[in-house]
Amino acid sequence: TQKEEVKSSCCQLDDLKRLPHRLVSLGDLCFSWTHTVLIDVTLFNRERRLVPQEGRDLWHSNFVKMPCSQAVNHGGPSQASRWKQISKQLSALAKKKTVSVNDVATAIIKYNPKYEGRWSFDALETFVKCVPKTENYFDKLFPKIAALALKLPEQIKKAIPLLQRGRSATITLSQVQISCLLANAFFCTFPHRNTSNPNAEYHNYPSINFTSLFGNWSNRKKEKLRAIMHYFKVVTETKLEGLVTFERRYLGDTDMPHWKRSTEKLHKLYVASCGSIESEGTGLLQVDFASSWIGGGVLSSGLVQEEILFLINPELIVSRLFTEKLTDNECLLITGSQQFSCYSGFGDSFEWAGPHEEHLKRDAWARLKRQILAIDALHFKHSSEQYSMMKITRELNKAYCGFKGQVGQEEPDIATGKWGCGAFNGDPQLKAVIQLMAAAKTRRGLAFFTFGDEHLERSLQQMHHLLVTEEVTVGELHRLLEQYCADLYKPEGLHVELFSFITINIKSFRSQL
Ligand code: AR6
Repeated sequence: TQKEEVKSSCCQLDDLKRLPHRLVSLGDLCFSWTHTVLIDVTLFNRERRLVPQEGRDLWHSNFVKMPCSQAVNHGGPSQASRWKQISKQLSALAKKKTVSVNDVATAIIKYNPKYEGRWSFDALETFVKCVPKTENYFDKLFPKIAALALKLPEQIKKAIPLLQRGRSATITLSQVQISCLLANAFFCTFPHRNTSNPNAEYHNYPSINFTSLFGNWSNRKKEKLRAIMHYFKVVTETKLEGLVTFERRYLGDTDMPHWKRSTEKLHKLYVASCGSIESEGTGLLQVDFASSWIGGGVLSSGLVQEEILFLINPELIVSRLFTEKLTDNECLLITGSQQFSCYSGFGDSFEWAGPHEEHLKRDAWARLKRQILAIDALHFKHSSEQYSMMKITRELNKAYCGFKGQVGQEEPDIATGKWGCGAFNGDPQLKAVIQLMAAAKTRRGLAFFTFGDEHLERSLQQMHHLLVTEEVTVGELHRLLEQYCADLYKPEGLHVELFSFITINIKSFRSQL
């Protein structure tokens, strides 16, 4: 067949390194200046119990402002009185056997009176109406979500730091704590988070209250709400056993490689047009084709790779509470989130496809062995913008920041694909070369899922074969990219696809050296 004719230096999926099945010692779970742990580490290390860490609530610009904060608000109504109001509304709901969408909406508006008439709940309402009776458990679920939200003061006693731009910092919390925070997001209780005004305190943070999910009905909303409601059903009915870590990684300009002088050769590559990052890539570092606003449009209308990932693993949504917009030299790494749902389709054809049974083992810190790496590619309005060395270096550094592991740790290889090449308009060939360079620099293998693109599957295999047999280095690839960009701007330049350009030029280019 045509496939077998392609000469390939690619490896098999099984040749790539996954998170180890055996229990690797991580040492005791410890907190530090840069790692906040929201459960009691002594009880965890001694008895494996997940008990909320005692601590102080802080009404401070470096911490998440909590709905249950006892802080005194100078001028306006005190926060304590707001939580009293929230508790009153949610307790009334929690006591009922069944609660309607109208009850939910009325309660939310009672403690967010400014938004009366401005927040719409039509999507939630239509959703509950249109799901067939046999699957319609929502009126019984709303009281349980309200009860879960009310546990916030017992579940989170210690202030949650914001993962701010320009520095690395980590938060570890339990899945129960996450569910309680998300129940609060569902009931729109987080203060100071409802405006996108450029002067607002959280203007540089993604939204977290679920309002935008509840209004503006569309078929997309229906499937999104099915996934979200299923998450709440599971977390209110079963015992959650683990921890999840959110790590913001920042690299300074001086930590970035000197790409032109890099002498590394390409590392392992597996390419396939079938399979996906989240299933076949299980156990690898799984790339989230992210927005710099983590989670992108998950709470509104977006429904591509990142949003789908966040819907099937809703614990990822809590990152929006504390992760400031990512800047160029940063990424977010999430370890231990659970997959609750299966799905089919993509974009408008996305459908919730039922519960997902989790078979992953946990690591020594009770985290599921799933690592997700959020890196945001550049969004090109016009495709031609991307062929500039400034833009290419930004993408190389972004991928490098994500792929670079911790010194001395056994890191899995990476599952990725057409990063930045859908909603963000990137060139798949250029993005593949960029990711190959970053992977080579960090000595990690790549599993590249082309998502049905057989042409890219074949051409990337051929490209890799050529680069491996010619022993091309990262530095040489960088210079080829420079030449490619320069040629595109010359009227007499060769205007061909990147892979063809490399194939045509590689030999002459090398003889010039
Ligand atoms: N596995 C492998 N490949 C996939 C998968 C998957 N599960 N899903 C999609 N692809 P896109 P971007 C392929 O558009 O361009 C979101 O709103 C598929 O070919 O999601 O980086 C974020 O929040 C698809 O066309 O990523 C950002 O705002 C391609 O990957 C923005 O989109 C790119 O997927 C990021 O856009």
